[in-house]
Amino acid sequence: MSAPKKLFIKTYGCQMNVYDSERMAEALGGQGYEETKSADDADMILMNTCHIREKAAEKVYSELGRFKKLKAKNPDLKIGVAGCVAQAEGEEIMRRQPIVDLVVGPQSYHRLPEMESKAREGKKVLDTDFPEEDKFEKLKSRPKAKRGPAAFLTVQEGCDKFCAFCVVPYTRGAEVSRPADRILREAQDLVERGVREITLLGQNVNAYHGAGATGDVTLAQLIWELNKVDGLERIRFTTSHPNDMQDDLIEALGSCAKLMPYLHLPVQAGSDKILKRMNRSHTAESYLRLIERIREARPDILISGDFIVGFPEETEEDFQATLDLVEEVRYGTAYSFKYSTRPGTPAAERPLVDPAEADERLQRLQALLTRQQREIQDSMVGREVGVLLEKPGRFDGQMVGKSDYLHAVHVADCDRPVGDLARVRIVSSGTNSLGGVLI
Ligand code: SAH
Ligand code: SF4
Ligand code: F3S
Repeated sequence: MSAPKKLFIKTYGCQMNVYDSERMAEALGGQGYEETKSADDADMILMNTCHIREKAAEKVYSELGRFKKLKAKNPDLKIGVAGCVAQAEGEEIMRRQPIVDLVVGPQSYHRLPEMESKAREGKKVLDTDFPEEDKFEKLKSRPKAKRGPAAFLTVQEGCDKFCAFCVVPYTRGAEVSRPADRILREAQDLVERGVREITLLGQNVNAYHGAGATGDVTLAQLIWELNKVDGLERIRFTTSHPNDMQDDLIEALGSCAKLMPYLHLPVQAGSDKILKRMNRSHTAESYLRLIERIREARPDILISGDFIVGFPEETEEDFQATLDLVEEVRYGTAYSFKYSTRPGTPAAERPLVDPAEADERLQRLQALLTRQQREIQDSMVGREVGVLLEKPGRFDGQMVGKSDYLHAVHVADCDRPVGDLARVRIVSSGTNSLGGVLI
């Protein structure tokens, strides 16, 4: 047998890309590839890209510029571009960067092995179709390969919401839910391979409505099924849309034992005028009432959010409404971005806010969010939490893992193995993590 070829995958963007990269690596395993951590000795480099903001997309071209040297040294090196930039700009990538052999969009990953063979024959291959067949069924995993204790599992992909700023409906396509039995089978397989925590992924995960034995299954029903899987200890899901937050899911947050007290619920802005122009179809008030109901069901839940500042025509008063909303919600974590114009989206036609003004607003919002995040993190000191141990820490006897609330925790004098769900008392709070001891 010939020596395995080496595959280097570089992943940008969201958690779904992380999941997709794992599946692509597994699919190429069948072609005799093994993953390597360095681009220098690779036989194939695959970039799994993100198109969400201009900067993310631009990175692809600068990175390809660097890989050019490697290709000059090793003409057999194959270079592929996958992900959302591949979908949006595939042909342009091929034109601008002749070193690229292969371009594959997110809905065609199951065709990757075939494409790789063609690329090996010296052909240029591009596939950015939205095929009918179920790519997940065709992306079979390598049986029983061991893995870490926390895993992602895509249950829903694509988006029909068309927020005015967002490329996702174009790059990932229409919203599609995977059938429930296939998800349960994949979860079972992950657990057999050592997984203890599964994060269900979808661009609109709470709009999940996959086929079940007796009709469509909601996300909450799927979670209750997963709750029965022996050996699975924790369930999370992301990302949710405020308009798809159904009653049964809110109830599950309050009563499902394995479902963790953490909810990522992006609001984007606090001004109803801006929300309307963003095509978000919720108001600040409806979002606040929703948070209230969720907290009634699960009082200790940690709320996380996404924000865009400097959306076209955002005034200082509009921005102030965002700050007011943040004050009211109190976020445990949040991601905030300066608006980035995406060609082809409706908002791209609208007049921009002065960039210096937008920068200044972003700084003010981030200062507030950082303060809230720190306060909530500090308030964990003295509490008992579960920590799923993921790896040894930097110090002797130390282990690192995530709490129920997704805080990173360093556990001192910890004699438990990776994969254990330890009971931990939090004793300190640092810049980005907590310190704890076993109970
Ligand atoms: N519902 C999605 C959101 C994906 S994009 C999900 O599954 O996560 C993640 C975040 O990027 C969005 O919530 C938004 O805050 C931000 N974002 C999207 N388009 C953007 C743009 N054009 N400029 C700046 N930020 C953007
Ligand atoms: Fe983008 Fe809006 Fe869909 Fe989220 S809900 S993926 S922000 S269009
Ligand atoms: Fe980026 Fe595509 Fe995810 S644009 S955020 S990689 S869905």
